[in-house]
Amino acid sequence: MKVLIATDKPFSSKAVEGIKSIVEGAGHTLAILEKYGTEDKLIEQVADADALIVRSDKVTPNVVAAAKNLKIVVRAGAGFDNLDLASLSERKIVAMNTPGQNSNAVAELAIGMMIYISRNLFTPGTGSELKGKTLGIQAYGNVGRLVAEHAKSFGMTIMAFDPFISAQAMEKEGVIVAKDLEELYSKSDFISLHIPANEHTKGSIGYALLSKMPKGGCLVNTARKEVINEPELEKVMEERDDLKYITDIAPSNLDTLKEKFGKRIFATPKKQGAETAEANLNAGLAAANQIVDFFATGNTKFQVNKF
Ligand code: 3PG
Repeated sequence: MKVLIATDKPFSSKAVEGIKSIVEGAGHTLAILEKYGTEDKLIEQVADADALIVRSDKVTPNVVAAAKNLKIVVRAGAGFDNLDLASLSERKIVAMNTPGQNSNAVAELAIGMMIYISRNLFTPGTGSELKGKTLGIQAYGNVGRLVAEHAKSFGMTIMAFDPFISAQAMEKEGVIVAKDLEELYSKSDFISLHIPANEHTKGSIGYALLSKMPKGGCLVNTARKEVINEPELEKVMEERDDLKYITDIAPSNLDTLKEKFGKRIFATPKKQGAETAEANLNAGLAAANQIVDFFATGNTKFQVNKF
């Protein structure tokens, strides 16, 4: 079988070597397409691939249509909003992610971002500490849980809201469970987002929630750009000169926000939450192992689509 790694933002060379050894060790061949820039190159390369490994690369209906032999695509990472599940399912192509494999990298970045913005983006001036502040975690999955764990060691109080996790499980880990998002936002000095981008969450973080944050509140986004209602974010930051926003996924209106809000807003130049050697290796190898196992045994444990 031909396995194609298509990563516009490439894995580390160590991760690629590891993937190669797993794939070739199982008797398959590996092709690599990195920094390809435009979809037409992916369309060309995917034509004879049986399996595909991607990161945030968009697997669009056009890519799926061109992939005549494709049987499985693995998103090496957590969020699979870049995969067009409808066209994959229509062709009965298995789509998987590698949950948990890059979570620590994202969680550490979320903590780093809280410190960075609390210290005025490392520019002169009086900052503030995380100790004694309340951190509200929106979605207590693999990343949210790790952020909570790390934040506890800074002396933060942790509150969380996650309708898919039992209150008991969160309380057992020393987390105060918010009854709804309104409570989470109104009681948290920091909100850290760990929700996926889907039809329920897109544009869901806006004026109504953000305006509830206490004085000096800060929104930390290591999740997805699409979950933010950007015009409403701008409006609430205009009305409240104490609110801050730090994100790993630049908003469309970044230039305007920077001009208007200066050091109250920061976006990384390129998404780097999962951009560590460790996360590359964990997620890349997991993707390769899942593909090899799928071809050998039919294992679909991490399948995210239904057909
Ligand atoms: C994920 O969903 O796993 C993260 O957003 C990482 O995305 P990346 O592979 O583009 O770094």
